[in-house]
Amino acid sequence: MKIAFIGGGNMARAIIGGLVAKGTPAMDIGVVEVDPAARLRLMADFGVSAFESAKGSMQNAEAVVLAVKPQQAREATATAAPFLDDPLFISIAAGVRLQNISRWLGGARRLVRAMPNTPALVHAGVTGLHAYEGLSLADRKAAEALLGAVGATLWFEREGDLDAVTAVSGSGPAYVFYAIEALQTAAQRLGLDEGASRTLALWTFVGATKLAIERGEEPAVLRAQVTSRGGTTERALQVLEAAGVKELFIDAVRAACERSRELGEALGKE
Ligand SMILES: NC(=O)c1ccc[n+]([C@@H]2O[C@H](COP(=O)([O-])OP(=O)(O)OC[C@H]3O[C@@H](n4cnc5c(N)ncnc54)[C@H](OP(=O)(O)O)[C@@H]3O)[C@@H](O)[C@H]2O)c1
Repeated sequence: MKIAFIGGGNMARAIIGGLVAKGTPAMDIGVVEVDPAARLRLMADFGVSAFESAKGSMQNAEAVVLAVKPQQAREATATAAPFLDDPLFISIAAGVRLQNISRWLGGARRLVRAMPNTPALVHAGVTGLHAYEGLSLADRKAAEALLGAVGATLWFEREGDLDAVTAVSGSGPAYVFYAIEALQTAAQRLGLDEGASRTLALWTFVGATKLAIERGEEPAVLRAQVTSRGGTTERALQVLEAAGVKELFIDAVRAACERSRELGEALGKE
């Protein structure tokens, strides 16, 4: 499948890296990118073609990935529209709703909205997908394979659920980094040096997550297994529970979801 990207920044580079690593020939990938230095990097790093404009570069594309900043989405889509031959159009622009993209493309319907996250950069992302009404099974499979090149994929029937996906996994890496920071700081306050503190914190997150994935058990069960009565873990968890940390965390994710809805509304008005 011939794939064109509009925007060749961080997320596009991550997906292109994943596609090439999984066997998509670089010659089947083209990128429209306004920044000349970014175009050179794309060609050098992945061997893909990079173009200054959509004109003359996108008419053979069977799938197009819109990977510009949300504020640039309307202009980038409308500028490319005259040069597209009704491809499968996948937008990864946060908050931008499919009915707007359809309008900017003059009524196109082969549309998918995707919400990846930054671990896609190391091929360990998770992407929420939503298909526009009536999308064919073949197009769904193609979108899934494309985003699947950089991690796990999950479909959501309601477009509004992508605001929750944004709040959970889109913003989620930041919450994990925040927790890693806290564990590292705690280690240092207990007298461990910075390097050791970081290694302990990072590998604790990697190891616990790997264990949860491989065992497939509820995190609450795994937590109970390491929490012996009267022990050290129990003492720490009592402090967290007394301070209501879990409820605060839930409130924080709810606030992110609300912000995602607000941004979606604002982008639709432009
Ligand atoms: N990072 C994340 O965690 C994450 C997660 C999910 C979704 N997303 C979404 O992914 C999208 C891309 O994010 P990113 O971090 O990859 O952004 P980025 O690094 O800024 O990449 C966008 C690139 O597109 C270029 N560009 C702008 N307008 C263009 C146009 N009309 N035609 C062609 N190229 C154009 C930009 O050039 P200039 O810099 O010169 O403008 C920039 O190089 C965003 O909409 C974001 O919401 C990101």
